[in-house]
Amino acid sequence: MEIKVVENSKNIESDILVVSMFEGEKTSSELANTYAIDQDNFKGKFGETYLLPTYGKEIYRKVLILGLGKKEELNPNKLREAVAKAIKKAMQMEAKTVAFSLDGIEFDYSEQFAMGAFIADYTFDKYKSEKKDNKVKEIYVQANQDLVNKAEKIASAMAFTRNLANEPAQYATPSELAAIACDFGLETKIYDKEECEKMGMGAFLAVAKGSIQEPKFIHMKYSVANPKKRIAIIGKGITFDSGGLDIKPPSSMLTMKDDMSGAACVLGIMSILKEFHPQVEVHGIIAACENMPGCSAYKPGDILTAKNGKTIEVDNTDAEGRLTLADALCYACELGVDEVIDIATLTGACMVALGSNAAGIMGNDDSMINELITTAEKSGERYWKLPLWEEYFDSLKSDIADMKNTGSRWGGASTAGVFLQKFVKDVKWAHIDIAGVAFLEKPQKELIKGATGAGVRTLLNYILAQG
Ligand code: BES
Ligand code: MN
Ligand code: ZN
Repeated sequence: MEIKVVENSKNIESDILVVSMFEGEKTSSELANTYAIDQDNFKGKFGETYLLPTYGKEIYRKVLILGLGKKEELNPNKLREAVAKAIKKAMQMEAKTVAFSLDGIEFDYSEQFAMGAFIADYTFDKYKSEKKDNKVKEIYVQANQDLVNKAEKIASAMAFTRNLANEPAQYATPSELAAIACDFGLETKIYDKEECEKMGMGAFLAVAKGSIQEPKFIHMKYSVANPKKRIAIIGKGITFDSGGLDIKPPSSMLTMKDDMSGAACVLGIMSILKEFHPQVEVHGIIAACENMPGCSAYKPGDILTAKNGKTIEVDNTDAEGRLTLADALCYACELGVDEVIDIATLTGACMVALGSNAAGIMGNDDSMINELITTAEKSGERYWKLPLWEEYFDSLKSDIADMKNTGSRWGGASTAGVFLQKFVKDVKWAHIDIAGVAFLEKPQKELIKGATGAGVRTLLNYILAQG
């Protein structure tokens, strides 16, 4: 799909002309005003649409009136959602060219306009032998070209991430993630199992033991001459989470190919950084492995030693993400970066707490957390702060090691957070739990079922804002 910025979208021959309408107001189209509003009493409530044929009397074949709700309530996020709705309608009608007439909408809304169109354009049909040809080819709109260009890049990183997270675990293996990481033209180091052993990554390697897939520790680096800031982003990279010996029930395992959504987010971001060339040094880090119950699997009761020397008693092999992240956090903290952000499908508890509309965020620096929360809001995602009180560590106390990997069922997202904090040293750190938002069971706003590309828009915008 291509968005073409034009002087006047109404002068373009198109399959559909989308005309925006504020609730209770007239539109810029006489046809719409006469037939939909005056004759048919169309109100233009937010998200409502009304379709009119033009019977060959206009250069556009149909008019789609797009309700935007009350004028004073419109914001870029609502516009994005409405635009996505119009694109989905156009796809249903197999329209190839769509012109948008957005009367009274400011040009600085162009980024979210374009995000709505590009995100709605996403499909995952590579394994369908018969593919639908229902994609919109061209969009015409009066808009800010620079913001459209920016949105196109962010959306393409999101699509990259969504493709990876939608990919079945049989293909998206740790080795495959490592191979992909090497394709970005960045300085990239892949550590194999033996090298991870030498680095003392006993927590990460324990998780990998039950699988025939070799673990890979991935480190990508985007560098610039005099960086304004140095940031490490770590993505949870469990390419399949069976639970291990504490095996999951079938219904919980169904979507567990998505347990590398954090890693997919980091890869999506690293894939596009060069095109934005921000003056920030960015390290992308992934401890990739499978969590399987093979005959050499790690067991409840095992005691693991992480890279920083801390010992962990395995209480539940299904709390594997925090073990892999523990070693990745130790590694990142040794890079001398200013900030570390980890993003992970970490706990079902976070999903229970916040549902599929918001990710949980925790960390040791409130101003960094607040900046991430506001960046998320502007980018079209939601982050909600959860506490990291030391009391959450009480249930993780072990009689024979420094800690256990699980404790109380209650407050599970925060308990996982305080566990991770034990592996963070001398750096500003934020942890984003995307368990509830990374993979949708039903369509939600501009997103279809499946992988959402969670974190890509927010973390990219956050990085771009630093330099
Ligand atoms: N990958 C899961 C968390 C998850 C759950 C992600 C649902 C997406 C959707 C994680 O590894 C896990 O299994 N967590 C356990 C932790 C428990 C054993 C303390 C959980 O949340 O049940
Ligand atoms: Mn698990
Ligand atoms: Zn997991």
